[in-house]
This record gives sequence, C-alpha cells and structure tokens, in this order.
Amino acid sequence: MRPFSIALSGKGGTGKTTLAALLVRALVDAGRTPVLAVDADPNANLHEALGVRLHETLGCMRETEFRRNIPPGMARNDYIELCFRKALVEEKGFDLVAMGRPEGSGCYCFANDLLKTCMTLLRRDYRFIVIDNEAGMEHLSRGTIGQPDIIVIVSDPGTRGMRTAVRIRDMARSLGLSPVPVFLVINRFKGTDASVIAWEPFALIPEDPEIEAAEISGLPVGSVKEGSVARKAVSRLAEQIIAMAEERPGD
Ligand SMILES: Nc1ncnc2c1ncn2[C@@H]1O[C@H](COP(=O)(O)OP(=O)(O)OP(=O)(O)O)[C@@H](O)[C@H]1O
Ligand SMILES: [Mg+2]
Repeated sequence: MRPFSIALSGKGGTGKTTLAALLVRALVDAGRTPVLAVDADPNANLHEALGVRLHETLGCMRETEFRRNIPPGMARNDYIELCFRKALVEEKGFDLVAMGRPEGSGCYCFANDLLKTCMTLLRRDYRFIVIDNEAGMEHLSRGTIGQPDIIVIVSDPGTRGMRTAVRIRDMARSLGLSPVPVFLVINRFKGTDASVIAWEPFALIPEDPEIEAAEISGLPVGSVKEGSVARKAVSRLAEQIIAMAEERPGD
C-alpha cells in the first residue's frame, strides 16, 4: 500500500489541529481506511480533538533506556517498530501516534529521529496519513515527516495570516519541496471578501459555532455534528484530496 500523506502547516492557532481531526474523521467516514493520524506537535493535542486517549508518546522514550532495552540480537529498527506499535492508539478506522515532548530539558533530536523512523516503518499499513504539525516548518525542514504528497497551509482570513502562509509556501519551495503541491486553506472564514487574498484558496472553512461550543464544553472538536458548517466543508476538502490521491501517477 502506498499511502497518500497530507501535512498540515501554518501559523500558530489557525486551526491545524481542528482541521486535522475533522479531516481524519471525514476520510474514515468516506471509507478511505485505514488512516494514520500523526501528531507531530510536541505539545500533543490531536488526541483530544479526536476524542481518544493517549498512553504514550515517542518523546517519552529516553535515548539511553531505549538503547539499553533493545533485546540482544534484535535489530534497532525492529525494536523501534515494536515500540511504535505499543505507542499506537488504535481506533475504528484510524490509528494515532504522537511525538510528544521529551521529558525535562531533553533535546528533540532523539524524538525527531524516532518520528522519522516511525513514519518510514508504519506508512505501508495505511491508505491516508494526516500529519498535524506545530506552527512553522520544523518537521518539513528537517525531513522528519518525509516528503508528504501535499502540504496544506492553514491560515485565518487576516492579512497577517495570509502573509505567513505565503512565507511558509515559499520556504517549502526553497527547501527543495517544490515538487510537493502546496495548498492554502482559509479557516474561520466569516464571508469577508476573499478577493484580497493573493493566493487562490483551495478551500474555505467557515467559522463554526459548533466547534466553539465543543471547545467550551471540553468535547472533541472532531466529533461535532455532521451538519456543522466546518464539518461539511472539511468533508468536501476530503473529497478533493481523495480525488487527488486517486489521480496520483503510478496508482
Ligand atoms: N472553523 C472554526 N470555527 C470556530 N473555531 C475554530 C475553527 N477552527 C479552529 N477553531 C478554534 O480555534 C482555536 C485554535 O485551533 P487549533 O488548536 O486547531 O489551532 P492550531 O493551529 O492547531 O494551534 P497551534 O498552533 O497552537 O497548534 C481552537 O479554540 C479551535 O476550537
Ligand atoms: Mg495544533
């Protein structure tokens, strides 16, 4: 199986995690399973948006202990795969793995390294991979999440958000990710004139009171009512992505 992977990126607080959760749900609802949800943000919260419990993150694994625990005769990658399977949250239609934060002042190199190996080892098991990144370009620039099939930059409709989105797109190109299509998704759209937008958006996701209500009552945003405006818009976005995956050369 060759999965189609979608990396969500963008400025802080624009809705990457919310859209990642809704996208995972939409792909599952469309029967494009199994889906792997990757929380590549050290401040892991995709599980909350999806309403699932997280037991372990890759960041919890300490390098020294990790090395010591590899059973004699077992290859490092086989051991890593075993650990990933333990850290994997299995749900109906999708699995979730979270990078998390190294304990104390631990540096991120080992966690990044684990995430990279994890992505390589697990990808063959899934049809779609949805990667929720932290704000900025860390994982894309380090190659931690490999080369995704598409990059979705999430922006708010404001001018500053748009400028950041354009900067991230240009940065992706300068990093040699130019063959990867980069799409703009405007979230929390309130019907304001989109003609001020310099870059044609791939999708507009409306501001949704259902999401706000879920957030206030501590409910997972990924499970807002089917008829909610954002959920409907993300389902349409998922259809576009599915069409792209089906038209991918070599499939
Ligand atoms: N379409 C929407 N309608 C209403 N509220 C939304 C919408 N999208 C996101 N939000 C709200 O915006 C806030 C930020 O969303 P989210 O956590 O998904 O952003 P993020 O980009 O992942 O943030 P970070 O950069 O911190 O990871 C949350 O309170 C979320 O409920
Ligand atoms: Mg987030």
